[in-house]
Amino acid sequence: MTQPQSQLRVRAAGPEDAAALVALNNQLVSQTDLMVLLPIEPATGTGQLRALLERQAIEGSRLILIADIDGAPVGMAIGTADPNPRYRGVVEMEVGVVQAAWGRGIGRILMQLVERRWTERGARRFQLRVLDRNERGLRLYRSLGYQEEGRLRCNVAMPDGSFADQVLMGKLV
Ligand SMILES: CC(C)(COP(=O)(O)OP(=O)(O)OC[C@H]1O[C@@H](n2cnc3c(N)ncnc32)[C@H](O)[C@@H]1OP(=O)(O)O)[C@@H](O)C(=O)NCCC(=O)NCCS
Repeated sequence: MTQPQSQLRVRAAGPEDAAALVALNNQLVSQTDLMVLLPIEPATGTGQLRALLERQAIEGSRLILIADIDGAPVGMAIGTADPNPRYRGVVEMEVGVVQAAWGRGIGRILMQLVERRWTERGARRFQLRVLDRNERGLRLYRSLGYQEEGRLRCNVAMPDGSFADQVLMGKLV
């Protein structure tokens, strides 16, 4: 018997997705130390995140896309614009995919869709920070056209007590 094909869907997240985003954040925290994320307490954090998402929806300052497989969130990408007009057109990018779904093109699709939507709104530069030991992330970003622009030495405390460098990457459109 053939297995049914799993269905990937990418959608924009709204305030109603606060609980799903908290769960996804906490899943990523438990699976990888390559994202500089903190765990969020669902009982208190969900309402706070919902309020933040409501404000950002009004301001139009942040775009979050969620990838679902068969209705379950497996990844997200976030593009955030700086409200300072001197930084107009600059978008800070973040992406995370749960481990079971790595290597299936989901990170790439999420990044491309966030970039496309922001480019349609006038973005001229995308930028991000990635730990220098994150080979998968570095390869993804290079292949999307990001270039290494600098290094923040010993910028991130790692669980083993060491400090890791972050690479600054940017891409002009
Ligand atoms: C980095 C991450 C977002 C990539 O998402 P993904 O869905 O696994 O990536 P994709 O399947 O779209 O692959 C995109 C690219 O990643 C790279 N990649 C994928 N699997 C890889 C592997 N095993 N080793 C090295 N690079 C790999 C490749 O460049 C690949 O492109 P290609 O298939 O055309 O060669 C995901 O692995 C992740 O969330 N990791 C943990 C959190 C994290 O590191 N987030 C980014 C912090 S800056």
